[in-house]
Amino acid sequence: MTHLVLVGMMGSGKSTVGRLVAERLQRPLLDSDVLVEERTGRSVREIFADDGEEAFRTIESQVLIDALASDEPSVIAAAGGVVLHESNREALRTCDARVVWLMADPDILLARVRNGMHRPLLDDDPATTLQRMWTEREPLYREVADAIVSVDQRTITDVVEAVLR
Ligand code: S3P
Repeated sequence: MTHLVLVGMMGSGKSTVGRLVAERLQRPLLDSDVLVEERTGRSVREIFADDGEEAFRTIESQVLIDALASDEPSVIAAAGGVVLHESNREALRTCDARVVWLMADPDILLARVRNGMHRPLLDDDPATTLQRMWTEREPLYREVADAIVSVDQRTITDVVEAVLR
């Protein structure tokens, strides 16, 4: 196995869990939002505001493909929207990686995404938006996942252990 990829909705804990799993496995953590910001020199919020969502999705896809192509086995925390593009889903299905979906109920996500500077899509009516995203994306996460870890009612430590198993 090479890479371990975490996918899931905003607020499911990909970055936090990813950091802890990376420490345990002694692998680098590649966080796709951070990589987008490093590559462009702009924040996720600025890219959405200046160039729009599709421009962001294009950079996000490039960053994901490059992360998956990395020679060094890594933990990749993939931003919530990577599953929207079919080409990304195909890359996730076919690459040399294990893809773990951190699955969370939209109500739980709502409580966790309050301080989301890099989440402009949740600026207005986050409850409705998360519910709509969940309906749209649930089958897409399922399509790419090798394993599903439910994060509802679980501590971070429990989730990390489940991902490692
Ligand atoms: C998004 C998720 C965010 C960020 C952007 C869009 C999405 O990343 O890329 O706000 O569409 O789900 P996280 O999943 O890391 O919060």
